[in-house]
Amino acid sequence: MGLSLLPSSATIVAFLLALSSLFFLPELAHSKHARITRHYKFDIQMRNVTRLCHTRNILTVNGQFPGPKIIAREGDRVVVKVVNHVANNVTLHWHGVRQLRSGWADGPAYVTQCPIQTGQSFVYNFTIVGQRGTLFWHAHISWLRSTLYGPIVILPKRGVPYPFAKPYKSVPIIFGEWFNVDPEAIITQALQTGAGPNVSDAFTINGLPGPLYNCSAKDTFRLSVEPGKTYLLRLINAALNDELFFSIANHTLTIVDVDAIYVKPFDTDILLITPGQTTNVLLKTKPHYPNATFFMSARPYATGRGAFDNTTTIGILEYQKPNSSHPSNAIGIKDLPLFRPSLPGFNDTTFAANYTRRLRSLANAKFPANVPQTVDRRFFFTVGLGTQPCPNNQTCQGPNGTKFSASINNVSYVQPTTALLQAHFFGQSNGVYSTNFPTKPPFPFNYTGTPPNNTMVSNGTKVVVLPFNTTVELVLQDTSIQGAESHPLHLHGYNFFVIGQGFGNYNPNKDPSNFNLIDPVERNTVGVPAGGWVAIRFQADNPGVWFMHCHLEVHTSWGLKMAWVVLDGKLPNQKLPPPPSDLPQC
Ligand code: C2O
Repeated sequence: MGLSLLPSSATIVAFLLALSSLFFLPELAHSKHARITRHYKFDIQMRNVTRLCHTRNILTVNGQFPGPKIIAREGDRVVVKVVNHVANNVTLHWHGVRQLRSGWADGPAYVTQCPIQTGQSFVYNFTIVGQRGTLFWHAHISWLRSTLYGPIVILPKRGVPYPFAKPYKSVPIIFGEWFNVDPEAIITQALQTGAGPNVSDAFTINGLPGPLYNCSAKDTFRLSVEPGKTYLLRLINAALNDELFFSIANHTLTIVDVDAIYVKPFDTDILLITPGQTTNVLLKTKPHYPNATFFMSARPYATGRGAFDNTTTIGILEYQKPNSSHPSNAIGIKDLPLFRPSLPGFNDTTFAANYTRRLRSLANAKFPANVPQTVDRRFFFTVGLGTQPCPNNQTCQGPNGTKFSASINNVSYVQPTTALLQAHFFGQSNGVYSTNFPTKPPFPFNYTGTPPNNTMVSNGTKVVVLPFNTTVELVLQDTSIQGAESHPLHLHGYNFFVIGQGFGNYNPNKDPSNFNLIDPVERNTVGVPAGGWVAIRFQADNPGVWFMHCHLEVHTSWGLKMAWVVLDGKLPNQKLPPPPSDLPQC
């Protein structure tokens, strides 16, 4: 036996040597620009999870809730094999990843791909270019992202420092929403009746609601820290329908990065984070053991007329006792004084405006803000709610017996039954989409004043076509139809610069003179102020089909979404490659 093994042992040694050289080569190369491919396997599977004494069978990745963390360095390739073991159709989206010429891997269902069906798999393959900080991944079909989400951590290239003091440790803090009943049933019912959907039962921090909810004290996220250190908190708002205020009692936060782009650091006690946004903050812990514990709280910033989940999620910041490597245990903590942060009122739009105004790009030699200084095409889009007629022989529970709807320039997006990107790539857009998305509202009105009598939307699958490298200026104007409301608008495939914002109606004659073309914040999701407007610019340098939508999932369900088709450029490296062979078919 031993003898017969010899030849194969030699083979194994040779194999191991080959393997180790594969493994170590990137390390040996060790240049700043060594790129690594990071492989992940995501099995979509069901799992029982209990919160607030309600057990639900939820969709998870690899049985984890929240889902697993993806870690990569800037420049790395990420390859995620997703296998669907559940009854639902699934897609995953790598929210905020620019997907330069890898639009097939972007993930929104019926936009860049057909869903991955039961028993099928799809490999998402993309490279992270020019981004560092925090993003997140989430399901991008119906409301499945309520449980299918997780962090994406992007480290700087090896050997490249942060533009701030190196943090001692970094901790993802991902906010979510917990529903005691299946959110799929909630949105299905709401779309049927035309009413607003039921709201969530809790907010969560890393999947845990915290002690302010019934039957939940044990499900509290605890962050155990050492005194005198700097922690990097990677905040992610993965909630479905709520913007959130966040604060840690008796601690100041330094904002250093949003949406995986560094910003000019500034201090604040409270921050605002909309669904789809990420924020990296430095938390300097107290120099000495404080003999106290501190709540970290998040609760909604809500501006709409409809019901919202007005609860508060809490995590606990606790200090490790001196001369002990373990955090003070729960019993010890009980005796310590407890500090609670105070958060703005639910509709504190003044706070929201002042906070967002403080966000600025670094705009230095190393991290320039490449704001388009000239504009090829200007667009003015109204965003807001509206109504659809109630079908015959039905009673509806939306405004005045209609159904709630939402639109951009009064077009409520109709989801096609095939993917836009495939239709575009293979020249088969006939019957799938039209290219006449309106560049301005069909009729002007006092957008933030008294709404027009007729609030019915039109329905269609319409896109804007942009030649490669077009510079775009887009003004997003909230409307007061069914109530002014803040809308976190998210653009796929791009970051944009937020060059201006204001309340009331945008004035094209006056407002541009106040645009910031020097150091505007660069991001992928921006809150259109309630009863106001925001102006953004981007350069269409990424060919593909790119979804743009409100990241309040209920508004997306109601049609507040559209797509940009960005054409190939002339050069080979300005073209979208053909689809991967395993791209799911509808
Ligand atoms: Cu985070 Cu289209 O979404």
